[in-house]
Amino acid sequence: MTTTIAITSGKGGVGKTTIAVNLALSLALQNKETLLLDADLGMANAHILLGINPKYSLEDFVTGNLPLDKVITIIKNNLKFVSGGNAINNLLNLSDLERHKIIRSFNDLNKKPEFMLIDVGAGAESSSMTFMASADKVLVVITGEPTSFIDAYTLIKTSFLDYKISNFGIVINMALTPIQAKINFDKFHSITQKFLDVNLKYIGQIPNSQRIRNSIISRAAVVTTKNNNKETKAFSEISSKLSLIETNRTGAIKFFDN
Ligand SMILES: Nc1ncnc2c1ncn2[C@@H]1O[C@H](COP(=O)(O)OP(=O)(O)OP(=O)(O)O)[C@@H](O)[C@H]1O
Ligand SMILES: [Mg+2]
Repeated sequence: MTTTIAITSGKGGVGKTTIAVNLALSLALQNKETLLLDADLGMANAHILLGINPKYSLEDFVTGNLPLDKVITIIKNNLKFVSGGNAINNLLNLSDLERHKIIRSFNDLNKKPEFMLIDVGAGAESSSMTFMASADKVLVVITGEPTSFIDAYTLIKTSFLDYKISNFGIVINMALTPIQAKINFDKFHSITQKFLDVNLKYIGQIPNSQRIRNSIISRAAVVTTKNNNKETKAFSEISSKLSLIETNRTGAIKFFDN
């Protein structure tokens, strides 16, 4: 059985890709077969943080040149990756039909992963929403900034009202302290509960960290086999709480039949 988790945010630049990549590495280190899908189509950049230059991307699949299993890159033990292509290709303007073709293709994989993490583009535009509605679980990344709060609220409202997504995990990124992160979650939770009948679970925090900032420059994720720093511990803690996020039953097509 595969659990698919969409990692998303209202506002851009809050750390979705950082979290998707490091969480995938953390799960892989715990011997969980994991597939990371970069679904920020046309703007994909997870490969940079993975320090690789994938030969193929979803574009090769969508154009019909290659089957899905041929566009998968093996990153390391227990971790595989599907790249979403870059801005020079035409994945930015996929039709609904093409998006559905992508989603349904995963069920045909011979070896299905235990987890599939999906790095989804920011905001509530239709490409992101299709991938979110098709995932079992949704993890929303927010920071303590008011703009991040407002945009995350808008994303959750659209997800709930238009796509019947009612369960969300929340991660506070760039937290000053774990206590401050929980205070931020509580604030966001109480605002949301006033207006929307949605279920938000606090999944954890990632510290505001120079090591994470440097990781993109050095093209190497912070979670590796070698270290046991506070960032790695934070990702490991989040990975152990993913089961707390309740599964959505949106009626949308799913990645895996399970
Ligand atoms: N916990 C953190 N501490 C410090 N810097 C961080 C942290 N998380 C992310 N960053 C930095 O913030 C920037 C944006 O991160 P990232 O690309 O992961 O965001 P994103 O939400 O995927 O952006 P986009 O919406 O453009 O896809 C990067 O430079 C990254 O290194
Ligand atoms: Mg990103």
